[in-house]
Amino acid sequence: MASREWSTPPEVVDSDPGRDELEELEVELLLEAIYRRYGFDFREYARASLKRRLWRRMTAEHLQTLSQLQDRLLHDPQCMERLLLDLSINVTSMFRDPSFHVAFREKVVPLLHTYPFTRIWCAGCSTGEEVYSLAIVLQEEGLYERTRIYATDINEAVLDTAKAGVFPLDKMQQYTQNYIRAGGKHDFSEYYVAAYDGACFSRSLVENVVFAQHNLASDRAFNEFNVILCRNVMIYFDKTLQDRVHDLFYDSLETFGILALGHKESVGFTSHADGYEVVDQAERIYRKIT
Ligand SMILES: C[S@@+](CC[C@H](N)C(=O)[O-])C[C@H]1O[C@@H](n2cnc3c(N)ncnc32)[C@H](O)[C@@H]1O
Repeated sequence: MASREWSTPPEVVDSDPGRDELEELEVELLLEAIYRRYGFDFREYARASLKRRLWRRMTAEHLQTLSQLQDRLLHDPQCMERLLLDLSINVTSMFRDPSFHVAFREKVVPLLHTYPFTRIWCAGCSTGEEVYSLAIVLQEEGLYERTRIYATDINEAVLDTAKAGVFPLDKMQQYTQNYIRAGGKHDFSEYYVAAYDGACFSRSLVENVVFAQHNLASDRAFNEFNVILCRNVMIYFDKTLQDRVHDLFYDSLETFGILALGHKESVGFTSHADGYEVVDQAERIYRKIT
C-alpha cells in the first residue's frame, strides 16, 4: 500500500469544500477573530450584506483572501477601525421618514406630557441627525426641558460627528423639506448657523443628550426608559441577534414605554409580540403593555 505523509489531518486535505463553503468558513473564522480580539460581535449580522462589506474592505486593503484580511485585522487595530466604518452602515438623515415624526408628535408626545420626566434611548443613532431631529420635536412640543436622551452607537467615530452637530450644508434643503413634512413648527434655519460648508446646530439641542458607545450585540441594559427609538438598525441583524436586541429593549422599557422601529422592522414574530400593543402600525410604533 502506498504510504502518504500528512502534514494536516487527512479529512482536511481530502475534503474539497465548494467555494461558497470555503468562503463561509473564512467569514466565520474572521468574525470569531474580531470578536475575540476586539469584542465586536458581528457573528449574527445578516450574511449577504456583511460579506459584501468584508469583500470591499479586503479589496481596499489590496488583499486576496478573507483569511489575509483576518490576519491584518488581528495585527492592525487601524484596519479594524476602517472595517468598523464599513460594517456599521451609517446612512441616516434629519427627519428621516417625516410621517414617523408626525405620528410621534400626534401619538407619543401626548403620552410623554403625562410624565414628570422622560428618559429616551436612541439606539444606533449614527452621526446624530436622528437625535437632533428628536430634540427639535421635543423642544417644539415643550418637553425637552424634562427629557434626557441617551444616544448610543457601536461606532465611536460616528458618535464624534454626532457630538459636534455639524452636518453638510448642502443637505439642508432636503432636511428643510423633511422638517416641514414632519410637522415642524418654525423656520428650520433657526436651528443652525452656516459656517463654510457646514450647518452647525444649536448646542441647546444637545444640552440634555448623553452620547455613549453601546453595542447592541453584546452590551447590557443600562437604564429604564420611557421611549426607545431603534430605527433602521436591526434590519442588518439576523433573527438570533434581533431576538437578543428585542429582549434587551423589552427589559429596558418601563411598562407603557414606547418602542419605535424603522419602517422595515417589527415586533411581530419576536417572543415579545404579545408584550406590546400597536400605537401606529405603519410607523412601527409600539407600547409595552405587560
Ligand atoms: C443605518 S444607521 C441608522 C441610523 C438612524 N437610527 C436612522 O434611522 O437614521 C445604523 C446604525 O446602527 C449602528 N449599529 C450597527 N450595529 C450596531 C450594534 N451592534 N450596536 C449599536 N449600534 C449598531 C451603526 O453603527 C449605524 O450607525
